[in-house]
Amino acid sequence: MKVLITGAAGFIGSQIAYKLWKLGVKLVLIDNFSYGKMDNLEFPNHSFTNEIIKMDIRDREGISSLFTNADIDYVYNIAGIAPLPDCQSNPQEAVDVNVTGTVNLLENCRKNGVKKFILASTNAIYENETKFPTVENNFKEPTLIYPNTKYVAERFCESYHKTYGMNITCLRFSNVYGPHIDCLRKQPPFVAYMIRELYYNRIPIFHSDGEQRRDYIYVDDLVEIALLVQEGKGFECINVSSNKNYSVNEMYSIASKIMNKNIKAKYETDIHYWESYPELYMGAYPIKNEILKHEINKYSLCDNSYAKEKYGWEPKVNMEEGLRRVIENECELLSRWDKKE
Ligand SMILES: NC(=O)c1ccc[n+]([C@@H]2O[C@H](COP(=O)([O-])OP(=O)(O)OC[C@H]3O[C@@H](n4cnc5c(N)ncnc54)[C@H](O)[C@@H]3O)[C@@H](O)[C@H]2O)c1
Repeated sequence: MKVLITGAAGFIGSQIAYKLWKLGVKLVLIDNFSYGKMDNLEFPNHSFTNEIIKMDIRDREGISSLFTNADIDYVYNIAGIAPLPDCQSNPQEAVDVNVTGTVNLLENCRKNGVKKFILASTNAIYENETKFPTVENNFKEPTLIYPNTKYVAERFCESYHKTYGMNITCLRFSNVYGPHIDCLRKQPPFVAYMIRELYYNRIPIFHSDGEQRRDYIYVDDLVEIALLVQEGKGFECINVSSNKNYSVNEMYSIASKIMNKNIKAKYETDIHYWESYPELYMGAYPIKNEILKHEINKYSLCDNSYAKEKYGWEPKVNMEEGLRRVIENECELLSRWDKKE
C-alpha cells in the first residue's frame, strides 16, 4: 500500500505521516513549504527530511508524473491555505490552492485508479449555521473566502464521486490543536498564540470578551479517524469534532495553570481582529464590521455521531491533557528557536 500526503510539512499532514510510517505504510510526501517547516518532519525516532518532495499541488506536470511513477493507492489532500485572514486578503491564491489544487489531484486520482481520496475540510463552513450541535447536512452556506474554498472543493469531490464513482471522504475538522501547531506564523491559531505569549511572559490580547466558544479536536484523535475512513466507500462529509466547546477564557485559565503563570489578558474590541491585515480595511469596499464581529464571536459545536456510528471512532484526549502536550512541545520548540537566534 502506498499513500500520498500533501501538505506533509504542515501541522496536521506531518502527524498523519508519522502515524502511517509507524504502521509500516510506504509514503509519498509533498509540500511547497509556503507554510510548512522542516522541523515538523523531525520525530523522536524518524526524520522525513530526506523523503519530502518539494512540490505544489497545482503543478500539473509534476503531480501527473508523480502519480504515473509512484503507484499511489490512497491520497490525503491536507495541503491548503488555512489561515482565514490570509485567504481573505489573497482570495485568488486561496481559490487556486484550495480549489484548483484539489481538482488537479482528483483528476490524477481518477486517471490512476486511486482507491480513496481524503480531503482536509473544515467546520468553518458552518460559520452561518445557528443549530447546535451542527450536523453534516442542511447547513447555511458560508460567507468568507476560506470556508467557501473548502465548500467548493467538497463539491468537486462530490462531482468526482457522482461522475466517476470514486471513493471520497471530506473530513470537516473543528479547531485542531496538538504538537506542531504553528506558533510562529503572522496570526497563529488561538492555542498556539496563547501558549507563545505565556511562554514569553507577555500579555495576550484577546478580541471581544473571551466568552466565545469553539469546538476543538486533538490532533491524535483526528489522525485516528483519518486512518479509519480509508476503507469507507462512496462519498461522505464527516465532522471531526469533540462535540464539546471551550471559551477563550476557559482555555487561557487551563493553560495558565499548566504553565504556572498568572498574567491577566487584555481585551480588545472585536472589530480590530484582523488589523494586522490593513488591506482588508482599505479600498472602495472595506471589510464590513458585522462580518468581523460575527467571525470573532462565532460559536461552534459540531455533532460527531456520524463518525462514531459509522467508524466506531471517539475522541479520547481531553482538553487538559491535550493542552499539556501542546505546551510541552511548543515550549521546547520556542526555546530551540531562541537559542538559534
Ligand atoms: N488546523 C486547523 O485547526 C484546521 C481546521 C480545519 C481545517 N484545516 C485544514 O487542514 C489542512 C492542514 O491544516 P494545518 O493546520 O496543518 O495547516 P498548515 O499550514 O500547518 O499545513 C498546510 C500545509 O500545506 C502546505 N501547502 C500550502 N499550499 C500548498 C500547495 N499549493 N502545494 C503544496 N503544499 C501546500 C503548506 O506549506 C503547509 O505545510 C488545511 O487544508 C486546513 O485548511 C485545519
